[in-house]
Amino acid sequence: MNAYNISDLRDAARRRLPKTIFEFIDGGAFDEVTLRANRADFEKRRFMTRVLTDVSICERSTTIIGTPASAPLVLAPTGLAGILHRRGELSASRAAHAAGVPYCLSTMSTCSIEQIAQASEVQRWFQLYVLRDRGITKTMIERARSTGCKALVLTVDTKVQGPRERDMRNGFTVPPKFTLGTMIDFARHWRWLIDVGLGPKVTFRNFDGTAAQSGNAVTITQFIAGQYDLSISWKDVDWFKSVWGGPIALKGVLSPDDARIAVDHGVDAIIVSNHGGRQLDGAISAIDALPGVVEAVRGKAEVILDGGVRRGSDVVKALCLGARACMIGRAWLYGLASGGEAGVAKALDILIKEIDTTMTLLGRTTLAELGPHCLVAN
Ligand SMILES: Cc1cc2nc3c(=O)[nH]c(=O)nc-3n(C[C@H](O)[C@H](O)[C@H](O)COP(=O)(O)O)c2cc1C
Repeated sequence: MNAYNISDLRDAARRRLPKTIFEFIDGGAFDEVTLRANRADFEKRRFMTRVLTDVSICERSTTIIGTPASAPLVLAPTGLAGILHRRGELSASRAAHAAGVPYCLSTMSTCSIEQIAQASEVQRWFQLYVLRDRGITKTMIERARSTGCKALVLTVDTKVQGPRERDMRNGFTVPPKFTLGTMIDFARHWRWLIDVGLGPKVTFRNFDGTAAQSGNAVTITQFIAGQYDLSISWKDVDWFKSVWGGPIALKGVLSPDDARIAVDHGVDAIIVSNHGGRQLDGAISAIDALPGVVEAVRGKAEVILDGGVRRGSDVVKALCLGARACMIGRAWLYGLASGGEAGVAKALDILIKEIDTTMTLLGRTTLAELGPHCLVAN
Protein backbone atom coordinates (compact mmCIF):
# COMPACT_ATOMS: atom_id res chain seq x y z
CA MET A 1 0.00 0.00 0.00
CA ASN A 2 1.47 3.32 -1.11
CA ALA A 3 0.88 5.33 2.05
CA TYR A 4 3.62 7.21 3.85
CA ASN A 5 1.49 8.77 6.53
CA ILE A 6 -2.02 8.86 8.01
CA SER A 7 -2.98 11.66 5.66
CA ASP A 8 -2.28 9.33 2.69
CA LEU A 9 -4.56 6.72 4.28
CA ARG A 10 -7.24 9.39 4.65
CA ASP A 11 -6.96 10.20 0.93
CA ALA A 12 -7.23 6.50 0.11
CA ALA A 13 -10.28 6.18 2.40
CA ARG A 14 -11.92 9.13 0.67
CA ARG A 15 -11.40 7.45 -2.71
CA ARG A 16 -12.74 4.07 -1.59
CA LEU A 17 -15.80 5.16 0.40
CA PRO A 18 -19.06 6.71 -0.76
CA LYS A 19 -19.18 10.38 0.28
CA THR A 20 -21.90 9.72 2.89
CA ILE A 21 -19.73 7.16 4.67
CA PHE A 22 -16.45 9.06 4.40
CA GLU A 23 -18.07 12.16 5.87
CA PHE A 24 -19.53 10.11 8.73
CA ILE A 25 -16.02 9.23 9.93
CA ASP A 26 -14.25 12.42 8.92
CA GLY A 27 -16.72 14.96 10.24
CA GLY A 28 -17.30 16.69 13.56
CA ALA A 29 -20.03 18.67 15.29
CA PHE A 30 -21.42 22.04 14.09
CA ASP A 31 -18.58 24.20 12.64
CA GLU A 32 -15.91 21.59 13.47
CA VAL A 33 -13.90 24.16 15.44
CA THR A 34 -12.91 21.59 18.09
CA LEU A 35 -12.14 19.00 15.43
CA ARG A 36 -9.62 21.40 13.87
CA ALA A 37 -8.29 22.53 17.26
CA ASN A 38 -7.44 18.92 18.17
CA ARG A 39 -4.92 19.02 15.31
CA ALA A 40 -3.84 22.65 15.42
CA ASP A 41 -3.01 22.52 19.14
CA PHE A 42 -0.69 19.55 18.56
CA GLU A 43 1.01 21.40 15.73
CA LYS A 44 1.67 24.53 17.80
CA ARG A 45 3.81 22.55 20.28
CA ARG A 46 7.55 22.28 19.60
CA PHE A 47 10.22 19.91 20.86
CA MET A 48 13.51 20.81 22.53
CA THR A 49 15.98 18.22 21.26
CA ARG A 50 19.08 16.86 23.00
CA VAL A 51 22.09 15.71 21.00
CA LEU A 52 24.90 13.21 21.47
CA THR A 53 22.85 10.86 23.64
CA ASP A 54 23.15 7.14 22.85
CA VAL A 55 19.97 6.34 20.95
CA SER A 56 20.94 2.93 19.61
CA ILE A 57 18.11 1.20 21.53
CA CYS A 58 14.64 2.73 21.77
CA GLU A 59 12.25 1.28 24.37
CA ARG A 60 8.59 2.19 23.97
CA SER A 61 6.69 -0.83 25.34
CA THR A 62 4.49 -0.12 28.34
CA THR A 63 1.36 -1.14 30.22
CA ILE A 64 -1.90 0.78 30.00
CA ILE A 65 -4.15 0.21 33.03
CA GLY A 66 -2.45 -3.12 33.41
CA THR A 67 -2.72 -4.17 29.76
CA PRO A 68 0.67 -4.79 28.13
CA ALA A 69 1.30 -2.78 24.96
CA SER A 70 4.20 -2.75 22.50
CA ALA A 71 3.71 1.02 22.12
CA PRO A 72 1.72 3.65 24.04
CA LEU A 73 -1.29 3.29 21.75
CA VAL A 74 -4.86 1.98 22.04
CA LEU A 75 -7.37 1.68 19.20
CA ALA A 76 -10.24 3.95 20.30
CA PRO A 77 -13.77 2.61 20.33
CA THR A 78 -15.59 3.58 17.17
CA GLY A 79 -19.12 2.52 16.37
CA LEU A 80 -20.02 1.14 12.98
CA ALA A 81 -16.53 0.20 11.76
CA GLY A 82 -18.28 -2.48 9.70
CA ILE A 83 -19.79 0.22 7.53
CA LEU A 84 -16.31 0.99 6.18
CA HIS A 85 -15.20 -2.57 5.59
CA ARG A 86 -17.05 -5.83 6.17
CA ARG A 87 -16.49 -7.07 9.75
CA GLY A 88 -14.34 -3.98 10.31
CA GLU A 89 -14.02 -4.42 14.07
CA LEU A 90 -12.67 -7.93 13.61
CA SER A 91 -10.06 -6.76 11.08
CA ALA A 92 -9.03 -3.92 13.38
CA SER A 93 -8.75 -6.17 16.43
CA ARG A 94 -6.54 -8.62 14.49
CA ALA A 95 -4.27 -5.83 13.28
CA ALA A 96 -4.04 -4.50 16.84
CA HIS A 97 -3.13 -7.98 18.10
CA ALA A 98 -0.39 -8.33 15.48
CA ALA A 99 1.02 -4.93 16.46
CA GLY A 100 0.74 -5.75 20.18
CA VAL A 101 -1.57 -2.89 21.20
CA PRO A 102 -4.98 -3.03 22.95
CA TYR A 103 -8.23 -2.66 21.05
CA CYS A 104 -11.31 -1.06 22.59
CA LEU A 105 -14.59 -2.38 21.19
CA SER A 106 -17.53 0.05 21.03
CA THR A 107 -21.04 -0.63 22.34
CA MET A 108 -22.13 0.45 18.84
CA SER A 109 -20.01 -2.05 16.92
CA THR A 110 -21.23 -4.08 13.96
CA CYS A 111 -19.50 -7.24 15.31
CA SER A 112 -20.64 -8.40 18.75
CA ILE A 113 -18.46 -8.72 21.84
CA GLU A 114 -18.60 -12.51 21.41
CA GLN A 115 -17.67 -12.47 17.70
CA ILE A 116 -14.51 -10.50 18.47
CA ALA A 117 -13.62 -12.72 21.42
CA GLN A 118 -14.01 -15.88 19.34
CA ALA A 119 -12.05 -14.70 16.32
CA SER A 120 -9.29 -12.51 17.71
CA GLU A 121 -6.77 -12.91 20.52
CA VAL A 122 -6.29 -9.17 20.94
CA GLN A 123 -6.05 -7.57 24.40
CA ARG A 124 -9.61 -6.23 24.46
CA TRP A 125 -11.29 -3.40 26.31
CA PHE A 126 -15.02 -2.70 26.13
CA GLN A 127 -16.52 0.78 25.79
CA LEU A 128 -19.92 1.26 27.32
CA TYR A 129 -22.61 3.80 26.58
CA VAL A 130 -24.99 3.90 29.51
CA LEU A 131 -28.43 2.86 28.37
CA ARG A 132 -31.76 3.70 29.93
CA ASP A 133 -32.37 0.00 30.30
CA ARG A 134 -29.99 -0.86 33.15
CA GLY A 135 -30.77 -4.55 32.53
CA ILE A 136 -29.23 -4.42 29.03
CA THR A 137 -26.35 -2.30 30.37
CA LYS A 138 -25.62 -4.84 33.11
CA THR A 139 -25.84 -7.73 30.66
CA MET A 140 -23.34 -5.99 28.36
CA ILE A 141 -20.90 -5.56 31.26
CA GLU A 142 -21.27 -9.23 32.13
CA ARG A 143 -20.75 -10.22 28.48
CA ALA A 144 -17.59 -8.09 28.35
CA ARG A 145 -16.27 -9.71 31.52
CA SER A 146 -17.08 -13.28 30.52
CA THR A 147 -15.39 -12.83 27.13
CA GLY A 148 -12.17 -11.62 28.76
CA CYS A 149 -12.22 -7.85 28.24
CA LYS A 150 -9.47 -6.32 30.38
CA ALA A 151 -10.94 -2.87 31.05
CA LEU A 152 -14.29 -1.09 30.96
CA VAL A 153 -14.35 2.32 29.29
CA LEU A 154 -17.34 4.41 30.28
CA THR A 155 -18.00 7.14 27.72
CA VAL A 156 -19.40 10.13 29.59
CA ASP A 157 -19.58 12.89 26.97
CA THR A 158 -22.51 11.63 24.92
CA LYS A 159 -25.80 12.32 26.70
CA VAL A 160 -27.11 13.45 23.35
CA GLN A 161 -25.32 13.22 20.06
CA GLY A 162 -23.31 16.25 18.93
CA PRO A 163 -25.05 17.62 15.83
CA ARG A 164 -23.05 16.55 12.78
CA GLU A 165 -24.32 18.61 9.94
CA ARG A 166 -22.48 16.63 7.27
CA ASP A 167 -24.47 13.53 8.31
CA MET A 168 -27.74 15.49 8.36
CA ARG A 169 -27.11 16.88 4.90
CA ASN A 170 -26.17 13.44 3.56
CA GLY A 171 -29.14 11.68 5.22
CA PHE A 172 -26.78 9.19 6.88
CA THR A 173 -28.60 6.21 8.44
CA VAL A 174 -27.80 2.75 9.80
CA PRO A 175 -28.00 0.63 7.75
CA PRO A 176 -27.29 2.99 4.82
CA LYS A 177 -30.47 3.81 2.88
CA PHE A 178 -30.58 3.18 -0.87
CA THR A 179 -32.05 6.37 -2.38
CA LEU A 180 -31.48 7.77 -5.87
CA GLY A 181 -28.70 10.03 -4.55
CA THR A 182 -26.93 7.41 -2.47
CA MET A 183 -27.27 4.74 -5.17
CA ILE A 184 -25.26 6.84 -7.64
CA ASP A 185 -22.68 7.52 -4.92
CA PHE A 186 -22.55 3.81 -3.93
CA ALA A 187 -22.28 2.63 -7.56
CA ARG A 188 -19.28 4.90 -8.13
CA HIS A 189 -17.54 3.13 -5.24
CA TRP A 190 -18.12 -0.42 -6.44
CA ARG A 191 -15.45 -2.04 -4.24
CA TRP A 192 -17.22 -0.72 -1.15
CA LEU A 193 -20.60 -1.62 -2.68
CA ILE A 194 -19.65 -5.27 -3.16
CA ASP A 195 -17.92 -5.55 0.23
CA VAL A 196 -20.39 -3.65 2.45
CA GLY A 197 -23.34 -2.19 0.55
CA LEU A 198 -24.47 -5.54 -0.85
CA GLY A 199 -23.07 -7.56 2.08
CA PRO A 200 -24.81 -8.68 5.28
CA LYS A 201 -27.00 -6.02 6.89
CA VAL A 202 -25.01 -3.55 9.01
CA THR A 203 -26.56 -3.29 12.49
CA PHE A 204 -25.54 -2.71 16.09
CA ARG A 205 -24.80 -6.38 16.82
CA ASN A 206 -24.42 -6.00 20.58
CA PHE A 207 -28.14 -5.21 20.70
CA ASP A 208 -29.27 -8.41 18.96
CA GLY A 209 -32.24 -9.90 20.75
CA THR A 210 -33.12 -6.64 22.54
CA ALA A 211 -35.95 -4.21 21.84
CA ALA A 212 -33.35 -1.62 20.77
CA GLN A 213 -32.73 -3.59 17.56
CA SER A 214 -35.61 -2.20 15.49
CA GLY A 215 -34.50 -3.49 12.10
CA ASN A 216 -35.39 -0.16 10.44
CA ALA A 217 -32.86 2.32 9.05
CA VAL A 218 -32.32 4.96 11.75
CA THR A 219 -30.09 8.00 12.14
CA ILE A 220 -27.59 7.67 14.97
CA THR A 221 -29.21 10.67 16.64
CA GLN A 222 -32.54 8.80 16.68
CA PHE A 223 -30.91 5.67 18.12
CA ILE A 224 -29.13 7.61 20.86
CA ALA A 225 -32.24 9.64 21.75
CA GLY A 226 -34.15 6.39 22.16
CA GLN A 227 -31.55 4.47 24.18
CA TYR A 228 -29.06 6.59 26.13
CA ASP A 229 -29.55 7.47 29.78
CA LEU A 230 -29.64 11.26 30.32
CA SER A 231 -29.76 10.94 34.09
CA ILE A 232 -26.40 9.18 34.63
CA SER A 233 -24.29 10.98 37.26
CA TRP A 234 -21.26 10.46 39.51
CA LYS A 235 -23.12 8.16 41.91
CA ASP A 236 -23.59 5.70 39.03
CA VAL A 237 -19.81 5.36 38.62
CA ASP A 238 -19.71 3.43 41.91
CA TRP A 239 -22.44 1.10 40.59
CA PHE A 240 -20.42 0.44 37.41
CA LYS A 241 -17.29 -0.21 39.42
CA SER A 242 -19.03 -2.78 41.58
CA VAL A 243 -20.82 -4.54 38.69
CA TRP A 244 -17.64 -4.63 36.56
CA GLY A 245 -15.09 -5.40 39.25
CA GLY A 246 -12.00 -4.61 37.12
CA PRO A 247 -10.09 -1.59 35.79
CA ILE A 248 -12.41 1.21 34.74
CA ALA A 249 -11.70 4.30 32.62
CA LEU A 250 -13.84 7.42 32.08
CA LYS A 251 -13.72 8.64 28.48
CA GLY A 252 -14.63 12.21 27.66
CA VAL A 253 -13.19 14.15 30.62
CA LEU A 254 -11.72 17.60 29.92
CA SER A 255 -12.03 19.48 33.22
CA PRO A 256 -9.49 19.15 36.06
CA ASP A 257 -12.41 19.36 38.52
CA ASP A 258 -14.05 16.32 36.93
CA ALA A 259 -10.70 14.53 36.94
CA ARG A 260 -10.41 15.10 40.72
CA ILE A 261 -13.93 13.76 41.31
CA ALA A 262 -13.17 10.74 39.11
CA VAL A 263 -10.12 9.96 41.25
CA ASP A 264 -12.24 10.25 44.40
CA HIS A 265 -14.55 7.61 42.88
CA GLY A 266 -11.62 5.26 42.38
CA VAL A 267 -11.47 5.42 38.59
CA ASP A 268 -8.29 3.77 37.22
CA ALA A 269 -7.85 5.91 34.12
CA ILE A 270 -9.09 9.17 32.70
CA ILE A 271 -9.34 9.49 28.96
CA VAL A 272 -8.96 13.16 28.10
CA SER A 273 -11.22 13.50 25.10
CA ASN A 274 -13.77 15.65 23.30
CA HIS A 275 -14.87 12.64 21.24
CA GLY A 276 -12.71 13.68 18.31
CA GLY A 277 -14.59 16.98 17.98
CA ARG A 278 -17.87 15.15 17.45
CA GLN A 279 -19.72 16.30 20.58
CA LEU A 280 -19.56 19.87 21.97
CA ASP A 281 -18.15 22.10 19.26
CA GLY A 282 -16.08 24.88 20.84
CA ALA A 283 -14.85 22.59 23.60
CA ILE A 284 -11.14 22.79 24.48
CA SER A 285 -8.84 20.58 22.40
CA ALA A 286 -7.76 17.30 23.96
CA ILE A 287 -4.06 18.18 24.03
CA ASP A 288 -4.72 21.59 25.62
CA ALA A 289 -6.90 19.93 28.29
CA LEU A 290 -4.26 17.30 29.09
CA PRO A 291 -1.85 19.22 31.39
CA GLY A 292 -4.67 20.41 33.69
CA VAL A 293 -6.03 16.89 34.08
CA VAL A 294 -2.56 15.42 34.68
CA GLU A 295 -1.94 17.98 37.40
CA ALA A 296 -5.34 17.40 39.04
CA VAL A 297 -4.93 13.62 39.09
CA ARG A 298 -1.46 13.74 40.72
CA GLY A 299 -0.56 10.22 39.64
CA LYS A 300 -3.60 8.60 41.30
CA ALA A 301 -4.98 7.43 37.93
CA GLU A 302 -3.49 6.93 34.49
CA VAL A 303 -4.26 9.63 31.94
CA ILE A 304 -4.83 8.75 28.30
CA LEU A 305 -4.97 11.38 25.56
CA ASP A 306 -7.62 10.90 22.87
CA GLY A 307 -8.20 13.17 19.89
CA GLY A 308 -6.27 14.54 16.95
CA VAL A 309 -3.43 12.00 16.90
CA ARG A 310 -2.22 11.65 13.29
CA ARG A 311 1.55 11.40 13.81
CA GLY A 312 3.86 9.47 16.10
CA SER A 313 5.24 12.86 17.14
CA ASP A 314 1.75 13.73 18.47
CA VAL A 315 1.93 10.66 20.71
CA VAL A 316 5.36 11.70 21.99
CA LYS A 317 4.10 15.25 22.69
CA ALA A 318 1.16 13.85 24.68
CA LEU A 319 3.52 11.62 26.68
CA CYS A 320 5.76 14.63 27.37
CA LEU A 321 2.70 16.34 28.87
CA GLY A 322 2.00 13.41 31.19
CA ALA A 323 -0.20 11.01 29.21
CA ARG A 324 0.44 7.32 29.74
CA ALA A 325 -0.72 6.53 26.19
CA CYS A 326 -2.86 7.83 23.34
CA MET A 327 -6.03 6.51 21.80
CA ILE A 328 -6.36 6.75 18.04
CA GLY A 329 -9.74 6.95 16.31
CA ARG A 330 -9.81 8.20 12.74
CA ALA A 331 -6.18 7.18 12.16
CA TRP A 332 -7.15 3.49 12.26
CA LEU A 333 -10.52 4.07 10.60
CA TYR A 334 -8.82 5.62 7.55
CA GLY A 335 -6.56 2.55 7.41
CA LEU A 336 -9.52 0.20 7.71
CA ALA A 337 -11.50 1.99 5.01
CA SER A 338 -8.59 1.98 2.61
CA GLY A 339 -7.38 -1.59 3.09
CA GLY A 340 -9.19 -3.64 5.75
CA GLU A 341 -6.93 -5.45 8.22
CA ALA A 342 -3.82 -4.61 6.17
CA GLY A 343 -4.86 -0.96 6.22
CA VAL A 344 -5.15 -0.88 10.02
CA ALA A 345 -1.80 -2.68 10.25
CA LYS A 346 -0.35 0.00 7.98
CA ALA A 347 -1.74 2.81 10.14
CA LEU A 348 -0.22 1.23 13.26
CA ASP A 349 3.09 0.58 11.53
CA ILE A 350 3.28 4.22 10.39
CA LEU A 351 2.53 5.59 13.87
CA ILE A 352 4.86 3.22 15.72
CA LYS A 353 7.77 3.95 13.35
CA GLU A 354 7.10 7.66 13.73
CA ILE A 355 7.17 7.31 17.54
CA ASP A 356 10.58 5.61 17.27
CA THR A 357 11.94 8.23 14.88
CA THR A 358 10.67 11.08 17.04
CA MET A 359 12.18 9.67 20.23
CA THR A 360 15.49 9.01 18.48
CA LEU A 361 15.74 12.50 17.02
CA LEU A 362 14.61 13.99 20.33
CA GLY A 363 17.54 12.22 21.98
CA ARG A 364 15.31 10.27 24.43
CA THR A 365 15.13 6.52 24.22
CA THR A 366 12.77 5.55 27.04
CA LEU A 367 9.25 6.67 27.86
CA ALA A 368 10.42 7.57 31.37
CA GLU A 369 12.73 10.25 29.94
CA LEU A 370 9.82 12.11 28.32
CA GLY A 371 8.47 15.10 30.20
CA PRO A 372 7.55 18.78 29.86
CA HIS A 373 11.29 19.55 29.61
CA CYS A 374 11.24 17.97 26.11
CA LEU A 375 8.83 20.65 24.89
CA VAL A 376 9.19 24.39 24.56
CA ALA A 377 6.61 26.25 26.64
CA ASN A 378 4.04 27.88 24.36
C1 LIG B 1 -16.74 7.19 13.18
C2 LIG B 1 -16.51 7.35 14.65
C3 LIG B 1 -17.28 6.60 15.53
C4 LIG B 1 -17.06 6.74 16.90
N1 LIG B 1 -17.78 5.95 17.77
C5 LIG B 1 -17.52 6.02 19.11
C6 LIG B 1 -18.17 5.14 20.00
O1 LIG B 1 -18.96 4.29 19.63
N2 LIG B 1 -17.87 5.26 21.32
C7 LIG B 1 -16.97 6.20 21.80
O2 LIG B 1 -16.74 6.27 23.01
N3 LIG B 1 -16.35 7.03 20.96
C8 LIG B 1 -16.59 6.96 19.63
N4 LIG B 1 -15.90 7.76 18.77
C9 LIG B 1 -14.86 8.67 19.29
C10 LIG B 1 -13.52 7.95 19.33
O3 LIG B 1 -13.51 6.94 20.32
C11 LIG B 1 -12.40 8.91 19.68
O4 LIG B 1 -12.74 9.61 20.83
C12 LIG B 1 -12.09 9.93 18.57
O5 LIG B 1 -12.16 9.32 17.30
C13 LIG B 1 -10.70 10.50 18.81
O6 LIG B 1 -10.37 11.46 17.87
P1 LIG B 1 -9.49 11.14 16.57
O7 LIG B 1 -10.45 10.50 15.58
O8 LIG B 1 -9.04 12.48 16.15
O9 LIG B 1 -8.38 10.20 16.96
C14 LIG B 1 -16.10 7.65 17.39
C15 LIG B 1 -15.33 8.39 16.49
C16 LIG B 1 -15.53 8.25 15.12
C17 LIG B 1 -14.68 9.04 14.18
